[in-house]
Parts: sequence; C-alpha cells; structure tokens
Amino acid sequence: MKGTFPIEKFAGIDTPFYYYDSSLLQQTLDTINAELAKHDRYHLHYAIKANANHDVLKMIQQAGFGVDCVSGGEIQAALNAGFDPQKIVYAGVGKGDWEINLGLEAGIFCFNVESLEELHIINELAQAKNKVAKVCFRINPNVGAHTHANITTGLAENKFGIAMEDMETAINEANALPNTDFIGLHFHIGSQILEMGDFEALCVRVNELLKRLSDQGIKVENINVGGGLGISYDDPNGAPVPDFKSYFDTYSNGIKLEEGQHMHFELGRAVVGQMGSLITRVLYTKQGKAKQFAIVDGGMTDLIRPALYQAYHKIENISSEEAEQKYDVVGPICESSDVFGKDISINACHRGDFIALRSAGAYGEIMASQYNCRKLPKGILF
Ligand code: LLP
Repeated sequence: MKGTFPIEKFAGIDTPFYYYDSSLLQQTLDTINAELAKHDRYHLHYAIKANANHDVLKMIQQAGFGVDCVSGGEIQAALNAGFDPQKIVYAGVGKGDWEINLGLEAGIFCFNVESLEELHIINELAQAKNKVAKVCFRINPNVGAHTHANITTGLAENKFGIAMEDMETAINEANALPNTDFIGLHFHIGSQILEMGDFEALCVRVNELLKRLSDQGIKVENINVGGGLGISYDDPNGAPVPDFKSYFDTYSNGIKLEEGQHMHFELGRAVVGQMGSLITRVLYTKQGKAKQFAIVDGGMTDLIRPALYQAYHKIENISSEEAEQKYDVVGPICESSDVFGKDISINACHRGDFIALRSAGAYGEIMASQYNCRKLPKGILF
C-alpha cells in the first residue's frame, strides 16, 4: 500500500521539498492530548530538534505543548512560534554563555544541567541578572536501549548527563548556590525505541534514585524522562500514529507520582515523524552493468539519515502504477553513500516522476546541509 498525496498540487513546486501532512499531524497531536488527559500532572515538551519548521511549530504550539530545546537557536525558534517560555526546558552538554543568558532573559521553565561546572556558570550568569535559575540535573541512568548505537544516550560511556554517584553533590551544591534552585531530575535513554521494556528499565532506575533521595529528605518536584518513542519506518501507512497509549501507560504503571510531583516528556520523532515525506523527482534512469538506477534530484544533503545511520525510509513512486522494477535509488551528491535505497522494488520510473521518501518528518529538513552548494529543501505544510 502506498501513501496518498495531493500530487496535483506538486506541479509548480521545486523539488526536493518536504511534504507535511497537517491532518496527520493534527490527528497525532489530538491522540497525544487524549492520552495525556488520562494522567494527572503529565506535561509534554516537544523536542524541537526533530523539526523546527515554523508552520509545524505553530500547530504544535496550538496543541498546548511546551518545548525541549538544546541550543539558543532552538529557544529562539520556539519563542518565535509563540511557545510559552514557562514551558521551555533547555538541555545540552555544552551551553554557551549567550545561550544561557537567552534562557534567563526569556524566563524558561528550567535548565537541564549536565555538569557541575555548568551549574556554577548558570549561577554566575543568573546572579548578574538578579535572577534565580531553576535547574534540573540530567542524570545518566546507565540504561541501554535497543536502538542504533549512534542514538543511545543513557549509557555510562556516553557524554550526556551527570553520573548517578554525583547526584547528591550536584543537588546540594545547587541548593547552596544563591541563584540556582533545584527543581528536579532529567533523563533520556535514546531515540527510536519501540520496546516498552526499555522505558520500564528507566522507570526502575528512576524509582531507585527517587527512593535514595527521599531517604535523605530531598524532594524531587519534577521528573523529566526525556523522549525516545519510535515510529514504524517499515509501515508508515499501517501505523501512521505511534502507540502513545502504551508509552504513557508504561510510565504511569512504572512511576507512581507523589502529591505535587510532575512528569515531563520530551518526544520529538513520535510527534512529527510520520507526517513528513521528502518529495523528489526522477531525473534519469540508468541501466548499469549489475544494477538499474533511479537518479533523483534529492540527496543526502536533503535527508541524511540513510547515509548517516543506514536508516530505512520507505520509498514510493507516487506518480506511477506501472509494474514494479528493482532500482537503486540514488541522489546527485558526489559521495558513494548518497543512496536512499538499494535493490528496492517500486513502480517503473520515468523522468519527472515524484518519488516519496516516507517517515521523514523528524530529523529530515532540520538536518539538511548545503554540501555541494545545494539549496536547502523547503518544508511545506499541506
Ligand atoms: N530529549 C533529549 C535529551 C534528546 O537528546 C532527544 C533526542 C530527545 C529528547 C528527543 O528524542 P526523540 O523523541 O525524537 O527520540 N538524528 C537522530 C536522532 C537523534 C536524537 C537525539 N536526541 C535520527 O535521525 O535518528
């Protein structure tokens, strides 16, 4: 089964571009809100790193969500789209002074602090502005996730977060400093996670740490468990909306909130992944010695995930119903890794056909580059 696209509207548009399906995005946002409503004090901060397209952000903002940022640029993009600064959380192992200052001036909800040195700098910068910065500590939970090695983040060997053994020192220091206020803990174990058991393992670790702190009389008001829920790259048509019910139920079964305690989530891919496709045109077909190629005008500069992570994106010829043939679908970039798919069966291709690379709403447009002096692809909300 192929996806349905308003091809008649594509005629005058330069390819490649990102097609964003507003009705699927709305359906996804509504599903998330319906699930969140079942749980008290659950808050979603959309991980803006997945897709910062302004029109997409507007829809997410209107759904009432907050934002998870990892740079000053992302904070600015969130503010430009009208997000409430009080719903912005800001993580990152290397926050620059101007970025911290921007967060302080905007009055964001909290800084997810990743080292003791960073805590002291935030305190100093806040002091200079006569403000008190609310901080959560990002704790490295040393919990693995069944996903690509490049996108696991919660192992002891990763650069992210503060080690569990340093947690109390960090909290005591934040409480002792005059311009920082400790308000909670932050975790994130990785991305494109489809096994609820991985999130269950995080819940077990979070409970352990909460117990350890409560035994010492330390209250944790906010628990931020990060993001990571995956999407079905194999079957975007069969599973257009991720399983948010299982995801939130896993946390509500795994972590029992105390009175006044809040849970925060930072989903990115699951919110925007399936609503986007990279639309590219066939430039040429070529019969090589061993292979047949479909050469398209989009490449790894537009969608880098296949080249960078050997990621699979379903490829469809949405202009043709002719019998299927096998192709290597490749881009025009001067790199051998500029391949979207090898030996894939799609309807016979001809110059000018539209090819859709599905499930590209997350980490697609935002990771595009201008290598080979190419234009950046536009993202268009339909
Ligand atoms: N929170 C933190 C602290 C994160 O580091 C990330 C993603 C998220 C939330 C959102 O994760 P999500 O819900 O989207 O899985 N470029 C890669 C993915 C990198 C993810 C980095 N961190 C890709 O294309 O697969």
